[in-house]
Amino acid sequence: RIRRGSIKCRYDIRRFSSVFLSIYNSLVPSEDEINKQKQLLMSLKKLVKKEWPDADLHLYGSCANSFGVSNSDIDICLAIDDSETTKADILLRLADILQLNGFQNVQALTRARVPIVKLMDPVFSISCDICVNNLLAVVNTKLLRDYAQIDERLRQLAFLVKHWAKSREVNEAYQGTLSSYAYVLMCIHFLQQCKPSILPCLQEMKATYAVTVEGKNCAFFDKVKELRNFGFSNKEDVSELLWGFFNYWAYQHDYTNNVISVRTGSIIRKHAKNWTKRIGNDRHLICIEDPFEISHDLGRVVDKYSIWILREEFERAASILQDYRDPCTELFKRY
Ligand code: GTP
Ligand code: MG
Repeated sequence: RIRRGSIKCRYDIRRFSSVFLSIYNSLVPSEDEINKQKQLLMSLKKLVKKEWPDADLHLYGSCANSFGVSNSDIDICLAIDDSETTKADILLRLADILQLNGFQNVQALTRARVPIVKLMDPVFSISCDICVNNLLAVVNTKLLRDYAQIDERLRQLAFLVKHWAKSREVNEAYQGTLSSYAYVLMCIHFLQQCKPSILPCLQEMKATYAVTVEGKNCAFFDKVKELRNFGFSNKEDVSELLWGFFNYWAYQHDYTNNVISVRTGSIIRKHAKNWTKRIGNDRHLICIEDPFEISHDLGRVVDKYSIWILREEFERAASILQDYRDPCTELFKRY
């Protein structure tokens, strides 16, 4: 297939910026919702400390990385130093405690890829997943949150991309499409590589934050308040960036040879990572390097069918933004 994108939209895409911004604003969770999440975390912390005084709970995922839309589930990590008890036993004990304290729909999924306890809070009806010692996820949550503070256009772009992905049903990693986490990394990469760039590469800068998690050195510049003017010379707004994002993934990305890497702020060749052929279930048809677990390709879930679904959806989105007189409704039309 010959793929070619246009370099220009038929209509002035900026005309739609206010509509895209109002969609974005409607997705942002309210103060009230965030306070409820905090209260839930506090009451869970109390229960955990009673049982395990040295343990702690950390929010991670979209409720803490600032890319969470309203009414999302919340992800919590139990950090516990107990080499004697298995994760499964810790989760089963936690499930008992939660049930005894009135939480609803408590379920321990001890055999999942990431074992968790699921629960529903009876006061606020917030659903919540708790995992054990998944501390890399806590660190990548901080990295994403720090990127979001540099330029508000990242959050605007990522919310719209996530909303698009959910509406078009391409946000389901267990069905061969991509996780929300993967989409946010794709947005960060896009804003790092655009010219002039809107985001820097925090992991290539002098580290002001460093932790070692599971033997991995996680270090990056986190004094992001100092970077507030970084993207100043790029004047593109949310609608231009949204079109640019889809155009990039529809026509400009080299799926055969390239890996996107937020860690280096650029592209790496598949050859250099040995991601050229299928090993087991990992096919590497779209390659998104995890910023800390660098042997981890977030595109590994994509198979030979879903890659075409994804690419068709990127092309559809790009052409809607390019050609439609009123792209806003069409773009997010339910699949
Ligand atoms: P939504 O729940 O869709 O709003 O987004 P989310 O960012 O919370 O995504 P999700 O619940 O799928 O993942 C929770 C967190 O797990 C992510 O934000 C990452 O911090 C972490 N994570 C680490 N590795 C992976 C991975 O391979 N896949 C996914 N999905 N998450 C990962
Ligand atoms: Mg989540």
